[in-house]
Amino acid sequence: MNRSSSAGIILGIALAAVASSGETPAFVPGQGSPQIDSRVDALLGQMTLEEKAGQLDQLSAGELTGPGKAVTDADNLIKRGLLGSLLNVTTASETNGYQKEVMEGSRLHIPILFGLDVIHGFRTIFPIPLGLSSSWDAELVEQTARRAAVESSSQGVRWTFSPMVDIARDARWGRITEGAGEDPFLGSMLARAYVRGYQGASLADPAAIAACAKHFVGYGAAEGGREYNTTEISVRTLRGVYLPPFKAAVDEGVATLMSAFNSLNGVPSSANPFTLTQVLKNEWGFEGFVVSDWTSIREVMLHGIADDEATAARKAILAGVDMDMQSSVYEPYLPGLVRAGSVPLARLDDAVRRVLRVKFALGLFDRPYVADPGAANPAGDPTSRALARRAAEESFVLLENSEVGGAPLLPLSPAPGRRIALIGPLADSAGDMLGSWSCEGRAGDVVTLRQALEERARRDGLVLGVARGTDISGSDEAGFPEAVKAARDADVVVLALGENRHSSGEASARANIDLPGNQERLLEQVVSTGKPVVLVLFSGRPLAISWASQHVPAILMAWFPGVEAGPALVRTLFGDCSPEGRLTVSVPRAIGQVPIYYNCLNTGRPRVDPIGLGSAKPDPYYITGYIDEKNTPLYPFGSGRGYTSFSYSPTRVGADAISARELNAGRARLAVSADIANTGAREGTETVQLYIRLRGTSVARPVRELKGFQRVKLAPGESRRVDFSLGRDELSFWNIDMKDVAEAGSLYVWVAPDCTQGTSARVSITD
Ligand code: BGC
Repeated sequence: MNRSSSAGIILGIALAAVASSGETPAFVPGQGSPQIDSRVDALLGQMTLEEKAGQLDQLSAGELTGPGKAVTDADNLIKRGLLGSLLNVTTASETNGYQKEVMEGSRLHIPILFGLDVIHGFRTIFPIPLGLSSSWDAELVEQTARRAAVESSSQGVRWTFSPMVDIARDARWGRITEGAGEDPFLGSMLARAYVRGYQGASLADPAAIAACAKHFVGYGAAEGGREYNTTEISVRTLRGVYLPPFKAAVDEGVATLMSAFNSLNGVPSSANPFTLTQVLKNEWGFEGFVVSDWTSIREVMLHGIADDEATAARKAILAGVDMDMQSSVYEPYLPGLVRAGSVPLARLDDAVRRVLRVKFALGLFDRPYVADPGAANPAGDPTSRALARRAAEESFVLLENSEVGGAPLLPLSPAPGRRIALIGPLADSAGDMLGSWSCEGRAGDVVTLRQALEERARRDGLVLGVARGTDISGSDEAGFPEAVKAARDADVVVLALGENRHSSGEASARANIDLPGNQERLLEQVVSTGKPVVLVLFSGRPLAISWASQHVPAILMAWFPGVEAGPALVRTLFGDCSPEGRLTVSVPRAIGQVPIYYNCLNTGRPRVDPIGLGSAKPDPYYITGYIDEKNTPLYPFGSGRGYTSFSYSPTRVGADAISARELNAGRARLAVSADIANTGAREGTETVQLYIRLRGTSVARPVRELKGFQRVKLAPGESRRVDFSLGRDELSFWNIDMKDVAEAGSLYVWVAPDCTQGTSARVSITD
């Protein structure tokens, strides 16, 4: 340690005393932690304004500069104790190296917090989050996040910029791939699961990493689906749709949030006091810290609310952004702003406290280094590969499975001698299977569909013909004849089409959401051979595949499945497991329908009133809709097939009436149930969904809202009663007075297999 000055020695002793005050307690936001708080206060009391501002500075190791900075500046900042966090450092030797600089070189020895976009796995890459969400399996999501935490923490990366909990209703928006789809209830459940998985029972566990719920807030509502674009969201919709997954993450104890790029109702999200301070910190009692998105503080100048860097820094810190990612405006300007009285010292101290609290909670002061940098070999770990395969299997959504020759086309028969043609540019595209944000994932870790099918063919004596057909986004048809011949020579065709991994994710909005390049033409030619076709679709967003839905007997939505893509697909295609995924986004028929989402309002001129009530016999012409397309999606939210079938009894409710007053007091709950039976010949897991609609309320409520779900595994012929319960949380909404309450009115309840089906039961909500 560099303790050349006597002040340094005294401080070193003080810190040692703080550090030895016992086991680092769990980080429990909302409840505080006296032990951590006293350590934070002791340290804060020693810090200069410059050191405080430095703790709020985060730079990317890859670029090691904010605009206008030289590479060596970052090193200087570290040694001078003026850099709180680094992102994009991925190996233990690097994290340990930087940590050594600050622990041995800086005055106060405050460890660096290393952050990274560990989005769906660190080295073991799981399905993209949109695919994972299709499992509707919170426990699975938690396990994948846990694994990601174990792998990234092994390299000293103790903070991930995940989960992305932005609600997405627009398939043009590329980042729809990173979230849990369009529904706030499901999104909230999965947000909690990610936080539990990353953070574990205690952040103090060396294998726990701090989570970051992002992007606060409304980022997914970008106008036109165009990345980074403006959003206009009413406060009611903000509170009812976009904020709940963030609230859920905060309630689960998420350590950090990220402020978004977009402007929201005219205010850039990284300088928005309403969302960052009033809602997040004051109403919700969030005690972690807010990091800006990449250069988003600097970007408030481009949004037009600051003319210079100092003003951008002032507006962001006053609004509630605690850490500056890559804008390099906090570290240079905050000390002067505080000295000039433009930023209260108390606000600066609050931001620093929040950052230090997370560092203490992670145990970084006690264990700043990765103890055994050589220990981890995450790639080949059989348990994580098994988890990756299970996650992929659960993420697949079977959209079509028509009968061919008297039986559903899937699962395929593995009879020896059966001839299978594997066609398409995604059949053997290892890198694409990783999807966007693949962190330390490697194409070499992926088993492709082709590799897995070849192995299966060898094992079972199948005859496999392979043709690429075309490129993902090409126009060259030279490969078509070979593909058509392979199809003609086969008994069944498996056609692997879709997007490449870079067609979704950040800055990858699409104005067209059909199959890229000439893949649709390849599809048509292969289908025209008359051979049965299984279309395996890879993509990071829902694709508008109207033609395929009418002409292809089996369609499996595979998303980007991760390292175990091939084995999971082959097991699913041959029925070793069943596809169990359900859509978490509506799949549009045409681009003109977006934004499209199931939990919409009804309009005064609906085409079909969803519950056959209250429609004023609308004129058949002057009704909501398009003259050239239906209103409904091609595949609705919650839908998906399996290899068996289920029946539902009528929905039952525990009472005909329930009191709003009792609900609001938390004293009443409504029991809801239905019997679900497996009516097919195979075991299967059904995702049983609970929907509500409220009528007679002070503001219009959506035609349906998801308020519960359960995954139920049933043997053939088995039936089970599935119970739900509705209380204040499920039945309240932001009413005409902007109060979150249950109101008198009518409640309709469905226990159903998706958002369009089921029989409703009616309950009166009395005063
Ligand atoms: C993205 C964030 C990400 C950050 C750091 C930004 O461009 O919007 O989601 O966490 O970069 O890589």
